[in-house]
Amino acid sequence: MSAQAKRQILLSRQEIEVTVGKLAAEIKIDYQDKNPLLIGILKGSFVFLADLIRLLNFPLEVEFVRLSSYGRGRSAPGKLKVVQGLHTQIKDRDVLVVEDIVDTGHSAAFLMDYLRKKKPASLKLCALTDKPSRREVTVTIDYLGFTVPNKFIVGYGIDWDEKFRYLPDICYLETEKILNTNL
Ligand code: PRP
Repeated sequence: MSAQAKRQILLSRQEIEVTVGKLAAEIKIDYQDKNPLLIGILKGSFVFLADLIRLLNFPLEVEFVRLSSYGRGRSAPGKLKVVQGLHTQIKDRDVLVVEDIVDTGHSAAFLMDYLRKKKPASLKLCALTDKPSRREVTVTIDYLGFTVPNKFIVGYGIDWDEKFRYLPDICYLETEKILNTNL
C-alpha cells in the first residue's frame, strides 16, 4: 500500500481556508484597535498562524514559544516547561495564544497559566482544532476552528513523529497502518 493510500482527508484545504477566514474576521472585530501580541506554540501552530495573520490587516505583533514536548498520543504529559520563551514583555498587552490542536489540553492549560502570571491585559486562546474526546484538563478555547474526532490527524502544521506537517489538508492516519511503515 502506498503512503498516499494510508491517509484520508478530514478537512480539506478549502474548508480550512474558509474557517481561518471566519476566525480572522472574529479576531479582527475584537483586536483591531489593541495591537495584540499573537503567541504561536511551536512547532505545530506555524502554518495556521502564518495564514491567520495574513488575514488580519491591522497592527499586531507575533511571538513564539516552544514547550517541552511529550508528543500527542502518549498518556503521561510529565512536567511541561517552556524551552524557548518570549522575547517580548506581555504585561498589560492583549495576548492571543494560537494553537494548532488542543488534545489532552495540557499544553494549552500550562501555557495559559504561565502567561497569566505575567499579567497581560487580556489573554485568550485560538485553536484551529479541538479534540475534546481526549481532554484531561479544562481549557477554554475562545476562538475555535474545528472539532475533530479521536483520530491521528496530521497536516497543516500538525505532525505525526515530525512527519506530514507540510500537507495542505488536515488528514487522518489509521493507527495500525502507521506503526511499522516507512513514511
Ligand atoms: C502538539 C500540538 C499542541 C499539543 C496539543 O504539540 O502542537 O501544542 O501537542 O496536545 P495536548 O493538548 O495533549 O497538550 P507537540 O507537543 O506534539 O509538539 P509540536 O507542536 O512540535 O508538534
